[in-house]
Amino acid sequence: MAVGKSAAKNIEKLREEIRRHEDLYYVQDSPEISDRDYDQLLEELQKLEQAHPELITPDSPTQRVGGRPAEGFAEVVHSRPMLSLDNTYNIEELRAFDERCRKLADGRPFEYVAELKIDGLSLSLKYEKGVLAQGVTRGDGRIGEEVTQNARTIRSVPLRLKSGAKDLDGDVEVRGEVFIPLEVFRKTNAEREEQGEPRFANPRNAAAGAIRQLDSRLVANRRLDMFAYDLLVGGRKPFATHWESLDWLEKAGFRVNSHRKLCKSIDEVIDFANEKEALRDDLGYEIDGLVVKVNSTAQQDDFGATQKAPRWAAAYKYPARQASTQVLDIVVQVGRTGALTPVANLEPVFLAGTTVSRATLHNEDEIKRLGLKIGDWVMIEKSGEIIPKVLSVITAKRKGNEKPFKPPKKCPVCGGEISRPEGEVVTRCIAADCSAQLMGRLLHFASRRAMRIEGLGEVLVIQLVEAKLVKDVGDLYELTLEQVAGLPRMAKKSATNLLDQIEASKSRDLSSLIYALGIRHVGERTAGILAKQFVSLQRLAEATVEELDDVPEIGLTVAESVRDWFDDDGNRKLCDRLRAAGVKTELGKSNDETADQRFAGKQFVLTGKMETFTRDEARSLIEARGGRVNSSVSKKTDFVVAGEEAGSKLDKATELGVAVIDEAGFKTMME
Ligand code: IVH
Repeated sequence: MAVGKSAAKNIEKLREEIRRHEDLYYVQDSPEISDRDYDQLLEELQKLEQAHPELITPDSPTQRVGGRPAEGFAEVVHSRPMLSLDNTYNIEELRAFDERCRKLADGRPFEYVAELKIDGLSLSLKYEKGVLAQGVTRGDGRIGEEVTQNARTIRSVPLRLKSGAKDLDGDVEVRGEVFIPLEVFRKTNAEREEQGEPRFANPRNAAAGAIRQLDSRLVANRRLDMFAYDLLVGGRKPFATHWESLDWLEKAGFRVNSHRKLCKSIDEVIDFANEKEALRDDLGYEIDGLVVKVNSTAQQDDFGATQKAPRWAAAYKYPARQASTQVLDIVVQVGRTGALTPVANLEPVFLAGTTVSRATLHNEDEIKRLGLKIGDWVMIEKSGEIIPKVLSVITAKRKGNEKPFKPPKKCPVCGGEISRPEGEVVTRCIAADCSAQLMGRLLHFASRRAMRIEGLGEVLVIQLVEAKLVKDVGDLYELTLEQVAGLPRMAKKSATNLLDQIEASKSRDLSSLIYALGIRHVGERTAGILAKQFVSLQRLAEATVEELDDVPEIGLTVAESVRDWFDDDGNRKLCDRLRAAGVKTELGKSNDETADQRFAGKQFVLTGKMETFTRDEARSLIEARGGRVNSSVSKKTDFVVAGEEAGSKLDKATELGVAVIDEAGFKTMME
């Protein structure tokens, strides 16, 4: 009995510790320990719970991983309907909303709360005695679907309310918007394309698809996130103002969007709207406007609601990020896997802050679906992807001289054979010596998330391939100073730098190497799982399909793809050469993590444009030195690195008294 008691105590202590780190990481964006240390804590808890399954509770951090596929979702009637909002599309309409509110307020003063309108889907979470008991989608507003198991996989959803918030009498319901961060959305789409699945049209569809996924283990992979925006206790609002509810939600452990403002007048709301619209590209998630709410709960009750929407709130929608332009040509690019991707070259057009001259068309079927011809006028849209996409053809603008797109019969780069297997959407060049594929493989190998060879960009890769100095990634490790310095426009100093970078890449960790090899279906996350499981490249190369398939979260497609890759003679030789060159092929701490750790524990935020580094470069420089880069400024931020045209993050830093350094200062820190 005594043993059981102490196990229970240990388990609870560990859970508290893990919850604290989850909150620091997912909600406050300021972790105190490394991901690896966090994983270790979670594993420790898993082991303890396996030994004492009777002690597992639904609010244990281990319960986020997802469970078996559900048969379908149960329907749940909402305690209070989840209404939608009336939309306003311009300042006049927003002022008209204000007029209506003032009439309803009958001369009494009132305030507004302005918030960002997150473009996701709403979710209601019920907490019983402080523990997450149920998650329900909005559905038709009256009846939603029960997705509790999926809601649990959202790391910023507390499984148990934090004790810092004032105790509320009764069952708590929290409503908020679930969304998928843009980075995850882009990765998800790239992976889907790789696997021959259709891409999601936008982040909202990706999030909606994920939350309604029957197998919650797959939801956990999709890394959903949530901003909480409403609180009910026993079906009623517990505070006198909405502002206080938001405050409580934050204290209770939810992510509440920091871009919010208490406004005394509609003019302040309008200023806020304009200010935030400029931030749209920097947020890391999609917003489609603002939500304006009357702050006082009593006044909200007074104003009431129509069948569809409350009278005390409105959405102010930002204009869709669309533009029309002409398709000048359709060119076909060849990627590292040989995939042929048609891209539309456009008459340059200004769209939401940038000049756009290309739009991706994804594949031949997409061109057919759009009915697109060269010379057509089209609508294009920025929808979370880096490159905008073609939405539709404006057929009314056709002149009759538009030309149909003729899909290539051979690889447009190497002239080699191409093939489109039955049932797949992607056509691929299957030539073994295609230079476009080689360039793609080299760029992928050298990329930040793979072997991080700084400076090995597109221009240099083209030069190395054209000079026939590099025929596979293994050749990178045999380059000499003489060869590199002999390339056109290459100074000796840059050549030395490149070789230093290549040398440094030898000590990247095993998961980066596995990802860098570019095995089909093996993304960053899968690479991490494989590295952890097999511990060395050698062991991975020997694993059978069955062994691979047995690994949690690894499916048969991945298992077969990995086996196929290592069954190839050329690939096996490549692995031997990498090992012989001194590339680290075993799990363990990588050198770059142990060497220069001058930024260990320091938190950075990057804003504005720098001359010498891209954001990604600055981020990897910081991370390689043990620092962490966050997206928003908080009291815990140590440094804000501000380049040209730095925006609101700089203001926030000044407001909070966080140290701000410019590009020159940043370089000095690095020396
Ligand atoms: S308040 C009655 N606040 O927008 C109050 N909604 O078009 C309704 N949304 O269904 C919700 N961000 O899914 C609110 N800060 C925010 C929001 C937000 C996004 C969504 C929500 C709602 C839809 C209405």
